[in-house]
Amino acid sequence: MIELRNVVKTFGRQAVLTGISFTVRTGESKIILGVSGSGKSTILKLILGLGKPDSGEILIHGCDITKMKESELMEVRKEFGMIFQESALFDSMSVRENVGYRLYAQPHANSETVDAQVERLLEFVGLSDAIDKMPSELSGGMRRRVGLARALVGDPPPRVLLYDEPTAGLDPVTSHRIMELILSLRDIEGATGLLVTQDLKVAWFFANARIVAKPDGTREFMTVPPAPAPDLTYLLLSGGQIRFEGTQQELLTSKDAYVRDFIG
Ligand SMILES: Nc1ncnc2c1ncn2[C@@H]1O[C@H](COP(=O)(O)OP(=O)(O)O)[C@@H](O)[C@H]1O
Ligand SMILES: [Mg+2]
Repeated sequence: MIELRNVVKTFGRQAVLTGISFTVRTGESKIILGVSGSGKSTILKLILGLGKPDSGEILIHGCDITKMKESELMEVRKEFGMIFQESALFDSMSVRENVGYRLYAQPHANSETVDAQVERLLEFVGLSDAIDKMPSELSGGMRRRVGLARALVGDPPPRVLLYDEPTAGLDPVTSHRIMELILSLRDIEGATGLLVTQDLKVAWFFANARIVAKPDGTREFMTVPPAPAPDLTYLLLSGGQIRFEGTQQELLTSKDAYVRDFIG
């Protein structure tokens, strides 16, 4: 579904990515770890075609997006939902407009259908009451949830979700609520997920907790003993390169000094 081939990216004289290759298959979950400044956000932006690498290829369903025009990239992006690190809401738009702007802006948008979708997504993130509020009236955690609702807009909804430090700066209770939403997208909706974080606790939670739908329609949240989600791999960035890629078991038993240091 996503394949990076020897991707190089520099900003000015700073070499941020010096040759990155990895693949993400449909339905797979991948966690990209690395200290602050290691190029994690850069990778997600390149996958969305927000900026181009200096060299290398980025294939989405086998097509190299680095050669695409903006109009073609817009099509490709429909399959992706990105939850930005800083929630990136438009301050002058209400919650409703922030979540739905991509749909309201379409030439033949039916505002009732769009309204219904926006309302459903706000319900999913538990913010129905905030629909007519402005971002400045929201707490950090609420803003992050609006960002999540916005990332899920689309008909059909995005099947691949890119999470950039989704809980950074939030209190533990709010973080837990966000992680629950992320896990239900993976475990109940079956979305493909790429989670970027420098926080090992967040990575661990994403890898080892589950949401299960019960027959009565409610959802149960389980933290299971270390038994990572099927089809989940870790990737650790350092010095512009992939220092480690593998399963949780391989991460925990790695003999690489940098990996051992990172995971403490
Ligand atoms: N648009 C940009 N212009 C200049 N430098 C940038 C830009 N985006 C990122 N960088 C630099 O690239 C490095 C990696 O950034 P980033 O991908 O945001 O790291 P991370 O998400 O791992 O913290 C940082 O040193 C950052 O300052
Ligand atoms: Mg970042």
